[in-house]
Amino acid sequence: MRISLIVAVAENGVIGHNNDLIWKLRDDMQFFAATTRGHTVITGRKNYESIPERFRPLKDRVNIVVTRNVEYEAPGAVVVHSLEAALDVASQSSGAETFIIGGGQIYRELLAAGHVDRQYVTHVQAAPEGETVFELGQLDHGWRKKELKQQVADERNEFAFTVCQYDRIEMIA
Ligand SMILES: NC(=O)c1ccc[n+]([C@@H]2O[C@H](COP(=O)([O-])OP(=O)(O)OC[C@H]3O[C@@H](n4cnc5c(N)ncnc54)[C@H](OP(=O)(O)O)[C@@H]3O)[C@@H](O)[C@H]2O)c1
Repeated sequence: MRISLIVAVAENGVIGHNNDLIWKLRDDMQFFAATTRGHTVITGRKNYESIPERFRPLKDRVNIVVTRNVEYEAPGAVVVHSLEAALDVASQSSGAETFIIGGGQIYRELLAAGHVDRQYVTHVQAAPEGETVFELGQLDHGWRKKELKQQVADERNEFAFTVCQYDRIEMIA
């Protein structure tokens, strides 16, 4: 099973503010849905709660929510209490790829633990304010980059963006 991360990040590394997204990018949302559908997603509790209630759990995907709160309930999702447990549950589900869908803490911890094989990064041409960040510098070494899609700003997308895929170099050597 491949473990992939999927994120949309501004030029200044910002990915969120006040537990919410900071832009309207409909075509990137569509890319996210098409890429993750049929697979398993792992989300931090905060990111999960930032998804509007009517859209969660994300449909057609196994949703795994990570929290240290042993009483936490998320109907329709699998709740786990460690990243190891999340990866263990994911390895038992049927999809060929598991997606780490954020937020900031979960990306950071799983990258630091060396668990990520592939990163799908939407580079957004914007520099908004926000307290949740993604370490863009980690993409500079050890990853092979492939550009997947370019999008100009238009009525569906507040900012221009480029979607890139980064594969861990050891994986394809
Ligand atoms: N631009 C993007 O692509 C993107 C994608 C996703 C999210 N976001 C943004 O990111 C923000 C949310 O990110 P965040 O960093 O604040 O929070 P987060 O990573 O979504 O969730 C953090 C929570 O996950 C749980 N957790 C973290 N590490 C754990 C571990 N090792 N074991 C057990 N539980 C663990 C804890 O939950 P408990 O406190 O319940 O114990 C922790 O408070 C929002 O603004 C959201 O919009 C942006």
